[in-house]
Amino acid sequence: MTPGRSRAVAFSPRSASSLAPPRNSALLLRVALHAPLLAPSLLAGDHANLAASARTVADLGLAWLHCDIMDGHFVPNLTFGPETLAALRRAGSNLFFDTHLMLSEPHRYIEPFAKAGANLISIHIEPDFDHAATLARIRALGCQNGIVLNPGTPAEAIEPFLASVDLVLVMTVQPGFGGQSFRAEMMPKVAQIDRWRRERGLAFRLEVDGGVDLVTVRACREAGADTFVAGTSFFRAADKAAFAASIAAL
Ligand code: DX5
Ligand code: ZN
Repeated sequence: MTPGRSRAVAFSPRSASSLAPPRNSALLLRVALHAPLLAPSLLAGDHANLAASARTVADLGLAWLHCDIMDGHFVPNLTFGPETLAALRRAGSNLFFDTHLMLSEPHRYIEPFAKAGANLISIHIEPDFDHAATLARIRALGCQNGIVLNPGTPAEAIEPFLASVDLVLVMTVQPGFGGQSFRAEMMPKVAQIDRWRRERGLAFRLEVDGGVDLVTVRACREAGADTFVAGTSFFRAADKAAFAASIAAL
């Protein structure tokens, strides 16, 4: 087990829900589970020195690193693969690798990413494959799992999976590229998923990804999101510590 994995336990909705807290501590649990979490996206880091970009994140005391995996098919762009994650581990990164698979056939790559050191693996709902089996496989390999929706996909599409996931990711841009404009019209979808989460007493994290900065993050938080991917805005911030502190204070 890598240090990254043991650190992940502290953020695991599954481990938290299995603690079976007494009823009067429900509020406390909710606050702990839904504390704001910044997940800087490596896509906006230095691709000639990704280990240094990961260190920048860790040196700020942050725990999560968002890793965008693109196949040039599900999305019109290519990034990196499991070997890059493994190399970051070898370079000493203990960060929680929040691995966002933008792949037409993600089920073929779960094992390599789990072996490479992914802590959480999220898959899109849009491509046609066995989502339930793939989500179960991710957990069976010791990772947390997540389900992702594109801007054009309604919340109802992922509703059947809500009780089986550790994270729901609502895309606030069409995936494929960093640096796009935030789509505020996704906020009702975030709010709907947050409503379902509360009504059903579920503990998954609710993440937003795309165009998130210190301004747009406020609407995301108000809609119920608790996990904020930030690529361009984070890596371009002159004062990254202040950036991280603003997210933590949401
Ligand atoms: C987009 C990726 C995002 C991307 C976000 O396809 O899924 O994670 O890195 O980048 P920014 O924050 O620059 O929009
Ligand atoms: Zn992403």
